[in-house]
Amino acid sequence: MSLEVRPRATSDLPALAAALIKVHDHDKYPVEGVADPLAWLTPDRLLAAWTALVDGRPIGQATLARAGAEDDAARIWQQHTGRDIDQLAIPARLFVDPDHRHQRAGLFLLHEVQAFARDHHLAIAFDVMLKDHAAIRLYETLGCVRIGTITHTHSHGQAEPAAVYATPDSAPHRETPRA
Ligand SMILES: CC(C)(COP(=O)(O)OP(=O)(O)OC[C@H]1O[C@@H](n2cnc3c(N)ncnc32)[C@H](O)[C@@H]1OP(=O)(O)O)[C@@H](O)C(=O)NCCC(=O)NCCS
Repeated sequence: MSLEVRPRATSDLPALAAALIKVHDHDKYPVEGVADPLAWLTPDRLLAAWTALVDGRPIGQATLARAGAEDDAARIWQQHTGRDIDQLAIPARLFVDPDHRHQRAGLFLLHEVQAFARDHHLAIAFDVMLKDHAAIRLYETLGCVRIGTITHTHSHGQAEPAAVYATPDSAPHRETPRA
């Protein structure tokens, strides 16, 4: 078995869309559902995307997008650091096919995200639903720090608690514990 991570090619998208449907069945990620997987895989303001492949077959991916004023993570990061959101990128759309987990595909995808941001002098912040325990463990393994908590209200009106994380160089102070 060979695992590879490389920049995403358009020809990867059908296999990634099929993997995404499996991920949604398994993890309820993304919470808003997967009515249009191909559109979901290509968020607005996309900067870069990477594919993880096992034996040449796409099994997972991650994207990095420029932050927008409407991003909860950007708002919290800006309050936390006082910096301009032009300096911020948001990783998103990270998933790995449930049949190919625990082989470090998620870790290697996030290494690419971090390297790209570093090379382009961009800070990184993002939100993650508290229910997504594996993702939170992975981010904390990478040294990401929790800088806030939010409630995400998705399209069905359902409220989902989430945390905002940043890489340590993107947000030097942790969330201040409440008294
Ligand atoms: C989060 C996610 C991407 C992680 O993918 P992954 O490829 O399994 O990640 P990794 O293999 O790098 O790491 C996952 C675990 O495998 C372990 N692992 C990695 N390589 C290993 C190895 N060779 N042997 C044993 N364990 C290993 C890691 O230590 C980690 O352990 P932990 O979960 O107990 O902390 C995946 O679980 C997923 O798609 N989840 C649903 C979608 C989601 O939540 N996305 C994030 C939204 S913000």
